Amino acid sequence: MTGELLSMTGIEKAFGGVPALSGATLAIAPAEIMGLIGQNGAGKSTMIKILNGACARDSGAITFGGQVWTAASPQAAQRAGVSTIFQELNLIPFRSVTENIYLGRELRRFAGLLNWRAMNAGARNLLRRFDIEIDVTQPLGHYSTAIQQMVAIARAVSFDARLVIMDEPTSSLDDAEVAVLLRTVRQLKSEGVSVLFVTHKMDELAQVCDRVTVMRDGQTVAVLPARDSDKLQLVASMLGRDLADVRRSGATAFTKAAAIGEELLDVANVAIAPRVSDASLAIRKGEIVGLAGLLGSGRTETARAVFGADMAARGAIRFNGTATRFRSPQEAIAAGMGFCSEDRKVEGIIPDMSVADNLALALMPALKRSGLLDEAAQRRVVERYIKSIGIKCAGPDQKIRELSGGNQQKVLLARWLAMNPKLLILDEPTRGIDVGAKAEIQALIRDAANNGLGVLMISSELEEIVEGADRVFVLRDGRTVQELARDDITETAVMKAMAHGASVSSQDTAA
Ligand SMILES: Nc1ncnc2c1ncn2[C@@H]1O[C@H](COP(=O)(O)OP(=O)(O)OP(=O)(O)O)[C@@H](O)[C@H]1O
Ligand SMILES: [Mg+2]
Repeated sequence: MTGELLSMTGIEKAFGGVPALSGATLAIAPAEIMGLIGQNGAGKSTMIKILNGACARDSGAITFGGQVWTAASPQAAQRAGVSTIFQELNLIPFRSVTENIYLGRELRRFAGLLNWRAMNAGARNLLRRFDIEIDVTQPLGHYSTAIQQMVAIARAVSFDARLVIMDEPTSSLDDAEVAVLLRTVRQLKSEGVSVLFVTHKMDELAQVCDRVTVMRDGQTVAVLPARDSDKLQLVASMLGRDLADVRRSGATAFTKAAAIGEELLDVANVAIAPRVSDASLAIRKGEIVGLAGLLGSGRTETARAVFGADMAARGAIRFNGTATRFRSPQEAIAAGMGFCSEDRKVEGIIPDMSVADNLALALMPALKRSGLLDEAAQRRVVERYIKSIGIKCAGPDQKIRELSGGNQQKVLLARWLAMNPKLLILDEPTRGIDVGAKAEIQALIRDAANNGLGVLMISSELEEIVEGADRVFVLRDGRTVQELARDDITETAVMKAMAHGASVSSQDTAA
């Protein structure tokens, strides 16, 4: 096609003899927002890494702005007009927000001294474009994953890019932040910048993209107009299945609880500095409980306190019939709790270890306690989960960092399920998981619950909470403001409580 800004054709790439891309193509017009979708491991991130020079291709041709394109590194690509926000943030948490934004191109004054004033002002202005007002002199690590993500986006946009690549930019953002991001994407378009937008959320495609490129097993299988394409049609093309088949299988795989047992966890009026002042919730055996709330409402903090990762200043926690006050996650794990965290890079995976070792990590204490490490047993567990969750890997011994983002997430979840806990806390369990695998994972969670597991599920996707939970507690500004029973759980009810805080108990005094 003529008039393309970017054209990638016949892209081939194999890792250790296993093909990741076989003849993939991608074309983006100037000022076009192109969506890129595909199952976990389809090759989306690899395609991007080849474009921005993070990874070398085996063969294929790339032109950008009508010229043959070569980029030796993502930094070089950035200087040449292609800016990437990676799936895994690669900013420096202990440096300030400003430093992260100006990393590698610091502003200097005449004597070569760093011009902090100009940089801080520049950083502030840049973030304001995204409606973010924060202290830019604070270390980036002080802020939530969502803010960090926005800083990464701001940084990428600030390079006068002609093409901005976003690899799952919204997976850790709440609805309001997603809206801000999508607005920024449209603004980029109006300024003549093109955007490549990778996502697993089908709704976002229609909202923001002009066209959608669909990848499957390392190939480009379709390029469709975003607005006129039916969501199910996109999913069908992505999974390589019949439209009718996809239609039949429905949106989520959650089913109703089989039997709900006795009390498993009771959290009463817990306070955790600095944000949570009065959180209460309860979980019974076999029950999936959703914890809803806006970003910053204290969901993760509350969960961390239950798990012994943070100390509650006040309140009582009862687990499995006894009052507890875990001083560390180790104690909580020993008592039968698991916590699958939202940030796989920081708290989750060990990149240089194998899939098997990462998966069996939580099993280690149990296996060691019984005297020896039963390697054969461990191997069986690992193989069973690779199969049941559909983890796409060369085998149990492959290094986990070589897996696609979604498949790393699956290993994390498998790790905790394999431990056979009494209570499992899931913080954004299907973040980064493709729509096909998502249903499988939800079914797996329900299955475990039907065998007595209690689940505390935090998700910024309302749909997941509404369809998956047997009961929902809503937090707002660090307080529990509502408890919803199965029949009362609707998107409207949850949303209303998140925003205004419905009154249900004496705790709900005017905030
Ligand atoms: N460095 C590597 N070494 C070995 N295999 C790799 C490496 N990087 C990617 N792969 C493999 O290439 C395939 C494509 O991975 P890629 O990360 O591009 O998928 P993706 O479409 O981005 O998936 P996701 O939605 O999970 O992010 C996967 O099977 C992955 O295991
Ligand atoms: Mg990816």
